[in-house]
Amino acid sequence: MENKEKLLALVGYSTKGGNTEKLLKDYLDLYGKDKLVDIVDLNTLDFKGCIHCKACLKKPRCKLEDDLSPIYEKVEAAEELIFASPVYFNGLSWLLKKFIDRMQAYFPHEMNWQGKKQASLLVTAGAPSYPRQFDASYLEAEITFKTLGYEKVRVVQVNNTDKEPYERGFLSQDIMKENGIYRRKGSQWELIEE
Ligand SMILES: Cc1cc2nc3c(=O)[nH]c(=O)nc-3n(C[C@H](O)[C@H](O)[C@H](O)COP(=O)(O)O)c2cc1C
Repeated sequence: MENKEKLLALVGYSTKGGNTEKLLKDYLDLYGKDKLVDIVDLNTLDFKGCIHCKACLKKPRCKLEDDLSPIYEKVEAAEELIFASPVYFNGLSWLLKKFIDRMQAYFPHEMNWQGKKQASLLVTAGAPSYPRQFDASYLEAEITFKTLGYEKVRVVQVNNTDKEPYERGFLSQDIMKENGIYRRKGSQWELIEE
């Protein structure tokens, strides 16, 4: 069991049975097999946002003591990391952003990350496609994944969920490369960027 790859998924949505949860479940069915999957639902944690106290400038540790404290260890040990979030005002959900800001603890340091294999961002948005709909969510996640030692970033984007909710099983085939932005388009997945 110890040899299994550790996959950590951060839940940044609050709708049970919603679009993002369905997408995450499909993604885990596909890419979580034979891995040690740990799903951390940020809704269940009582934690503060970063207050820029600068304590982490000295060492890569956050001074705040709360429910997020034990999660740092999981983040450090994870070989795969997933962020699952709805798009809120073009960015990630406040819940995931609050988590991300706390990762500032690592930012000032040259971390010797080992075994970081794959990071994934799963996002759903309600409106039909419009320019730059996913830009902010992507940029926020990308810099965080880099800060946490990931070079390979796969992004899965679903929009128009107000009219066309995400349905289980839509993501059921391994057609995705480790790097790349994939977006639902009609009945298919489109590779937007490699
Ligand atoms: C506070 C808030 C802000 C939102 N902002 C956007 C937005 O900027 N663009 C968009 O396309 N959809 C936006 N939406 C719609 C959600 O992204 C969409 O309904 C999403 O699929 C919800 O995911 P869920 O079913 O997992 O909760 C917003 C929804 C909320 C509640």
